[in-house]
Amino acid sequence: MTSLHQFVSRSSRTLLRNFQHGQKRDLPLLSSQYTQTRSVSLVPDLPESHEMLRTTCRDFAEGELKPIAAKLDKEHLFPKEQVKKMGELGLMSITIKEELGGAGLDYLAYAIAMEEISRGCASSGVIMSAHNSLYLGPLKKFATKDQAEKYIRPFTTGERIGCFALSEPGNGSDAGAASTTAKTSGDKFVLNGTKSWITNGYESEATVVFATTDKGLKHKGISAFVVPKPTKGLSLGKKEDKLGIRGSSTCNLIFEDCEISKDNLIGKPGEGFKIAMMTLDEGRIGIAGQGLGIAQASLDCAMEYAEKRIAFGAPILRLQSIQNKIADMAMRIEAARLLTWRAAVLKDAGRPFTKEAAMAKLAASETATFASHQAIQILGGMGYVSDMPAERFYRDARITEIYEGTSEIQRLVIANNIIKEYSNKA
Ligand code: CAA
Repeated sequence: MTSLHQFVSRSSRTLLRNFQHGQKRDLPLLSSQYTQTRSVSLVPDLPESHEMLRTTCRDFAEGELKPIAAKLDKEHLFPKEQVKKMGELGLMSITIKEELGGAGLDYLAYAIAMEEISRGCASSGVIMSAHNSLYLGPLKKFATKDQAEKYIRPFTTGERIGCFALSEPGNGSDAGAASTTAKTSGDKFVLNGTKSWITNGYESEATVVFATTDKGLKHKGISAFVVPKPTKGLSLGKKEDKLGIRGSSTCNLIFEDCEISKDNLIGKPGEGFKIAMMTLDEGRIGIAGQGLGIAQASLDCAMEYAEKRIAFGAPILRLQSIQNKIADMAMRIEAARLLTWRAAVLKDAGRPFTKEAAMAKLAASETATFASHQAIQILGGMGYVSDMPAERFYRDARITEIYEGTSEIQRLVIANNIIKEYSNKA
């Protein structure tokens, strides 16, 4: 493994860019032609540039995140310094174009980076994903030039992060039932309502928020806005005391006669629900990456323990009952990884990927729960105490089946798409 010193000396914000530039020159495999004509599931290896990115992220996670992950979890600490370093590496603006200060990489790179970062620390993973896909994602697609200068460029370095406010205390899965209102008043919008479960709520310096301008129009009345933090009339609720991912903050955002300029509308009035859905499609690839990272860390931990733990005169890894668990964990991780990479490659090729992103998120999050459960079983009593990380993986895994659409919502999205495909064939 690369030492931390070596890693730091060669890691810089331009590193990720160089990978891509070098790769574009030397390896035509990464071009859009490649992604349009070949499926990643048919090739045994990643393109070289993505392998290099994977190694960089793995070294960073091993050296900077894994050693502090337990402390972040125990003390509910936000990893400010590490997020800054992630920004220096380009990880806090992975798919933002270079002209705006981003790393200019693709979604396959994002999925890989999310897995490796989450393998070291799932809290850092969700901080990164909420910022990249939920905050920067909709702005990348819909921001005007002025909005991009104000709300994207300063948010590409890891110094500032953003959040995404869609859910409310009264509606989570039914995202179209938003009751936060945005009323026009001269050249302003006035926001009123409470948004809940906001990842990065405490540390973020801007939020994308969804509010209805006309409840009668149901989801077609919802618009998207970007709101700087702090802003008068916007306050934070209590920090939630969560089961897992405790290094990231989660809280309510409370809007009380919060006035924002009309320039803060993202996209067109009434486009908000579609913007939210498109954002979540991309976000689900990120959470799939997070689930994979947790699952892989669980397998790593189980393997290390099973090789060392002696029972009945030999390492328990020799026992078939343990080997069965290892085989099932590894198989499910590999299958979920292929689904995740496939969703990312489809997205990068500009092809529909809603169903595939839902499949990836569902498979990877259920694999995270499965693998962390099995890891605890392999570790036995040691899996149940915080001296070992298996219990943290189990707690961290649980949320991946809930946020950015529950497993039930992923099944609904998948089934709706399958039904459409069949009715189109008929
Ligand atoms: N992309 C673009 N448009 C889409 C779309 C997509 N993926 N999915 C739906 N739409 C459009 C439809 O085409 C339709 O458009 P028209 O009105 O023009 O016909 C419109 O949206 C309504 O579609 P549906 O009738 O399918 O919508 P629905 O009300 O039945 O809801 C749903 C669909 C899939 C259940 C959706 O509400 C959903 O994804 N819910 C889960 C929400 C979620 O993931 N919340 C997590 C919040 S973020 C978070 O977790 C916090 C955090 O910080 C990590």
